[in-house]
Amino acid sequence: MSTKFLLAGIVVVISAALSPAKAESDPKRGATVYRACVVCHSLEPQLHLTGPSLAGLWGKKAASVEDFPRYSKALKAQAFIWDETTLNAWVANPEAFVKDNYMTFRGIKDDKARSDLIAFLRLALAPDGAKSVVAKDLIPEQMARGQAPEPLDRAGPQEQVASVRYCRNTFFVVTADGVERPFWEMNLRLKVDSSATGPKGGKPVLTPSGMQGDRASLVFSDPAQISAFVQSKC
Ligand code: HEC
Repeated sequence: MSTKFLLAGIVVVISAALSPAKAESDPKRGATVYRACVVCHSLEPQLHLTGPSLAGLWGKKAASVEDFPRYSKALKAQAFIWDETTLNAWVANPEAFVKDNYMTFRGIKDDKARSDLIAFLRLALAPDGAKSVVAKDLIPEQMARGQAPEPLDRAGPQEQVASVRYCRNTFFVVTADGVERPFWEMNLRLKVDSSATGPKGGKPVLTPSGMQGDRASLVFSDPAQISAFVQSKC
């Protein structure tokens, strides 16, 4: 290699070392930071979890996702538009940015992590963003749905419930395969999943929860089903 090229190389290395602040924010690293959000948010339009879907957020007014019913008064009262400046302030410290909001998240204090996150969200919250970040291999497809409930519409006979009897602090759950399992009342959670992938055919679905096998959830498609389905009988 000639001395000229060698010197040019050294100059590049030195100037990179002298300007660390200019290091590019990286959507791939930002996708890792985004893991903190998937417990409560999806990137799919209309798929709301604890928080609203973040699909197509850029340019929207705060708290204006139409079919999300759980916004706080505090966020609804805001007039600002979601852009990189407002999102950066929100993610840094939600409570400081909008007092008394409902997002129970302490914030990301690290400037670098936040700017990587914004670089990821720049793509992910654009129109058709979920598809494009999956296509670019930034996140796996499942992650775009966040922690959306597991689909229960195709539950097998071991999970589909035929009957539930309640006697002396115990639920006796019989599944479609004929097996009966007793649960202490404090170990069986009654839940509702009214979404398109919720239980089908008016029957609840039994899903295990916890590691021990003594706990489970009974998921109904409608709250009215709960008292109709559970028979008090010893
Ligand atoms: C523990 C659940 C939870 C986590 C974790 C969480 N959020 Fe939220 N988020 C919410 C809730 C609930 C709301 C609605 C807040 C309100 O109405 O006050 C919300 C609102 C938002 C909004 C406003 C949306 C709108 O329609 O105006 C944005 C943007 C947002 N979150 C981004 C994020 C990002 C980015 C992360 C990860 C760094 C994150 N959230 C982590 C629950 C969460």
